[in-house]
Amino acid sequence: LEVPEFEFLRYEVAEGIAWVTFTRPKALNALAADVLREIAEVTEVIAEDPEVKVAVFTGEGKAFVAGADISEINALKDVFIGREFALAGQEVMNHIAALPVPTIAAINGYALGGGLELALACDLRVAATKAKLGLPEVGLGLIPGFGGTQRLPRLVGVGRAFDLILTGRHVPAEEALALGLVNRVADDAVAAARELAQAIMKNSPVALALAKEAVARGADVPLPEALEIEADLFGMTVTTHDMREGTAAFLEKRAPEFKGE
Ligand code: HXC
Repeated sequence: LEVPEFEFLRYEVAEGIAWVTFTRPKALNALAADVLREIAEVTEVIAEDPEVKVAVFTGEGKAFVAGADISEINALKDVFIGREFALAGQEVMNHIAALPVPTIAAINGYALGGGLELALACDLRVAATKAKLGLPEVGLGLIPGFGGTQRLPRLVGVGRAFDLILTGRHVPAEEALALGLVNRVADDAVAAARELAQAIMKNSPVALALAKEAVARGADVPLPEALEIEADLFGMTVTTHDMREGTAAFLEKRAPEFKGE
């Protein structure tokens, strides 16, 4: 597997977990175009790496990601370029959302604007106690454009999303937990993300991928069609080795040994 040289992030795989760490702490890991390009590249690496069972995104320093790069936005001049800017960022977030393995944002500090939008493209979010989350775009004369106006209301409901989108305020981790915006709060977000990843990895990898696909595809269609998708994917589980093994292990009162096929 060819892993490219990255300038703005670090990619490591250990014990089944791919760690993507943003490494531009001086700019609070802001998503400049070059950073977005590297994130798109790293998602390709993750998707092709057979060692990877779960992927975790996190940041170095006091921020997870403090948003898109405001100096690049300041230079945007017309409606077409602005639209392209949003679409390009959305595409990167879509690559993260489409990863076949479960993904966790380990929100070590500020997750603002495009940074929160990146975390929203992950399946799960773990926040450090000191983390602050928000969509401050309206205070810059912008609106969220990397998926925030769409993924946030789908996750927490329209009313709660409006609170964040219209005030632009920084939400503390504990409140984010109460809102359902994050799944866990811990002093050490990385350690908590590792524990969560380990719990996930006890399960069948093929079942995880199918479960993720069911949730993702079902979210975009009406319920009757979504239920058909679920039934189709459930059907696929019953032909897998992992299903034979998982159910047999239960009946034999032993731990399963999944192969991911
Ligand atoms: C570019 C950024 C940045 C950003 C921080 N920096 N956020 N540069 N883009 N989004 C830079 C600062 O300019 C500063 O550079 C350095 O990082 C450290 O930041 P400080 O502000 O000095 O740190 P602090 O006082 O601790 O404040 C932290 C902060 C603040 C509250 C997180 O940095 C902040 O409000 N940042 C912007 C957050 C934001 O509005 N995000 C949304 C962006 S719009 P120097 O060179 O001075 O050291 C967006 C749109 C996405 O994301 C969708 C587009 C389509």
